[in-house]
Amino acid sequence: MERKSIGDVVVLWLWFLSLATINIQFSLSDGTSDVICSARERRALQRIKQGLVDQGNYLSSWTREACCSWKGIGCDNITRHVVKINLSREPMEGAFLGGDISTSLLDLNHLQYLDLSWNSFEGLQIPEFLGSLTGLRYLNLSNAGLTGDVPRQLGKQSSLQYLDIGGISLDTENLDWISSFRP
Ligand SMILES: *[C@@H]1O[C@H](CO)[C@@H](O)[C@H](O)[C@H]1NC(C)=O
Ligand SMILES: *[C@@H]1O[C@H](CO)[C@@H](O)[C@H](O)[C@H]1NC(C)=O
Ligand SMILES: *[C@@H]1O[C@H](CO)[C@@H](O)[C@H](O)[C@H]1NC(C)=O
Repeated sequence: MERKSIGDVVVLWLWFLSLATINIQFSLSDGTSDVICSARERRALQRIKQGLVDQGNYLSSWTREACCSWKGIGCDNITRHVVKINLSREPMEGAFLGGDISTSLLDLNHLQYLDLSWNSFEGLQIPEFLGSLTGLRYLNLSNAGLTGDVPRQLGKQSSLQYLDIGGISLDTENLDWISSFRP
């Protein structure tokens, strides 16, 4: 009796191992495997989507549970935190994103890359809160249809290495810190 139950445990264990192996193979063979992200970050991304006007249905993949495999989203391979949002559109693709940029971005505490280039925000002011995204290394706002001041606080962020604001007309008041910005 004792042996039989140990045998059962071994069988169960082997079955478990084979599942794990299938999982590993799946994620190796497919870089966009369904990686589950934290519910908090998924909700933040859903709120960001709600604010956007997405006529071309670019964000159609932003519905499933595994938000790391959503279009434009990059997660850290180990921690699974969302580290990248790339909403950049190829100029030829058409149907640019517009609407509003949600403050829910601030709930993504591990965000390092934010690329909003080639969109059509139609004169929306550059949100001041972008300056509060500490940890941001890359920010691309070029040709996104944004206007206004570049948040001064961005210049104080030591983590920021790339800032692209091509196509945005700046107030001269802003130019002092930007010209002292050394990536
Ligand atoms: C995660 O791993 C893939 C493939 O191994 C690699 O291409 C990608 O750059 C990694 N992403 C991060 C955020 O480290
Ligand atoms: C965003 O995606 C575009 C292509 O769709 C690519 O050219 C660009 O380098 C990406 N940006 C980042 C920060 O990964
Ligand atoms: C910002 O995005 C534009 C358009 O997608 C691209 O041409 C440019 O190289 C990007 N800037 C940086 C610093 O990556």
